Amino acid sequence: MDKDQFVIEIDDLPYDREALEGVFQQARPYARIKGLGWQDNSHLQTWTVDTAPAVVIYSGSYMNIDTNRKDLNYNFLRHGSIKKMIDRLNFSHPITEGNVDMIWYRPGFKFEPHIDHYAKSTMMWPIIPNDAGAPIDFYYKSNIDLAPLIQSGKPAGFKDQVTDEDICCTHYYSTAVPTIFNSLWIHGVRPVAQERVYLRLRINEPFESIVSKHRSGTLVR
Ligand SMILES: [Fe+2]
Repeated sequence: MDKDQFVIEIDDLPYDREALEGVFQQARPYARIKGLGWQDNSHLQTWTVDTAPAVVIYSGSYMNIDTNRKDLNYNFLRHGSIKKMIDRLNFSHPITEGNVDMIWYRPGFKFEPHIDHYAKSTMMWPIIPNDAGAPIDFYYKSNIDLAPLIQSGKPAGFKDQVTDEDICCTHYYSTAVPTIFNSLWIHGVRPVAQERVYLRLRINEPFESIVSKHRSGTLVR
């Protein structure tokens, strides 16, 4: 399988990891516990934002399971360094504050294999650790038909259907250039050993369309 069915690096948009670490330090008081409908959130009552395995800083409420902090919106586009990078990207739709967030995983967190319902493609700028930490895995199993799941628009987890044996591609992120991956292909992150913080863009453009712009040199202005 060709790696660019799943993931590409945007080598013509280098970024300053340390500058993003500064943004993270400013934004961290706005962190909220991250949860998604298909995940096991049964430990919610015992978590706080300082102990939860997955935390997120963003604008909006769709990932919010933390009712105490539901109004802690954070707009990353108010940072000129982020706005400038995003303005250079030629996606098929405008990028607003609702598309940008920071995800923050604590040691031991495992992002079970899943497909996204809130993005067709995802762009990542690793911030912490300074070597990007745990990679992302993509899974393939011939008897899983993703088309009806994608069409339904519902999020889907596959932890009982795929194993490490079904990993078809592992991508180690760069901390020099951002990565874009196909959110509609089964993906996950095995347990992280170190705290892991990434700036993320949720994009509603099909991955194939983004790859073709990247190949023709029209993705970055
Ligand atoms: Fe995902």
